[in-house]
Amino acid sequence: MIIGLDPGSPAGDMTVARIGNRVTLYCGDAYAIRPTLGWMDADVMDPPYLFDNRGGGHFRSTRPGSNQIVEEGLDQGFDHRIINPLLCGAAVVFCHNDQLPRLLPFMTGSFSRFALLIWEKPNPMPVRNKHYLPDTEPFIHAWTPGYHPLGDHHDMHRVIKAPSVKTSTFGHPTVKPDAVMDKIVRNVAGERICDPFMGTGSTGVAAVKAGKAFVGIEQNPTHFETACQRIAAALEQHP
Ligand SMILES: C[S@@+](CC[C@H](N)C(=O)[O-])C[C@H]1O[C@@H](n2cnc3c(N)ncnc32)[C@H](O)[C@@H]1O
Repeated sequence: MIIGLDPGSPAGDMTVARIGNRVTLYCGDAYAIRPTLGWMDADVMDPPYLFDNRGGGHFRSTRPGSNQIVEEGLDQGFDHRIINPLLCGAAVVFCHNDQLPRLLPFMTGSFSRFALLIWEKPNPMPVRNKHYLPDTEPFIHAWTPGYHPLGDHHDMHRVIKAPSVKTSTFGHPTVKPDAVMDKIVRNVAGERICDPFMGTGSTGVAAVKAGKAFVGIEQNPTHFETACQRIAAALEQHP
C-alpha cells in the first residue's frame, strides 16, 4: 500500500492510498472529490441516513451504535445530487425507510429503471420507537440502458438475509455485511466501482474479492484507516 498526500489531486491536497493497481482511496469530502473522478460503471453508496434517532428507552444503553450515529452526523441525510447518471451507468443506494418517498422519485427521474431491494436482518434491535421493528433496510439499484442488473438465477433475488455487523467489530455503527456487499457487486454491471461514502470499506472489500477496480472516498480519518487495512487484507487474500 502506498499512502500519502496527493498534491496533484483536482479536489486539492488530500491523503490518498493506492492499494495494488486497482484500488484508490481518498480521505476527504465526497461532494468535492466524486465529480473529479469521472465515469464509473457503478456508484455503490451507503450515505448518511435521514431519520429520527431519538428514543429507545432503557434499550438505548444496549445500543452504543445509536449514539455514535448521532455523534458522527450519520442521521443527517445527504445531498441526492451526488447520485449522478452522467457519471455512472448504475447506482446502488442504501437508505432508511423514511427516505424512500423523496429518494425514489429522484432516482426514477435520473435513471431509466430501478429495483427496490431489501437487506433482511434476522437480529433486529429490540427497539420500535412507535414504529415497526428495524428488521429490514432498503437499498435501491437504478440503471441506465446497458447497465442492467447481472447475475445467476440465485443472485437475482430482491431480498438478502444477513446478520448485522456489530459496531465493535470495526468501530463503525453502520457496517454492511459481506454477504450483502458481495451480492451487490455481483449484480452491478461493469468493472469499475466507486463508493463515495465508503466508511470502513465494505464495498471495496467486495469489489477486490470479485476482481473489480475500486475507488473509495471517506472523510473520517479513523474509518479511512480501517478501510485501507480491510481492503489491503482482502487484496492479499484475492491478489
Ligand atoms: C453509512 S456510513 C457507510 C458505512 C459503510 N457502508 C461500511 O460498511 O463501513 C457513511 C459514511 O460516510 C461518511 N461521510 C459522511 N459524509 C461524507 C462526505 N461528505 N464525504 C465523505 N464521506 C462522508 C461517514 O463518515 C460514514 O463513514
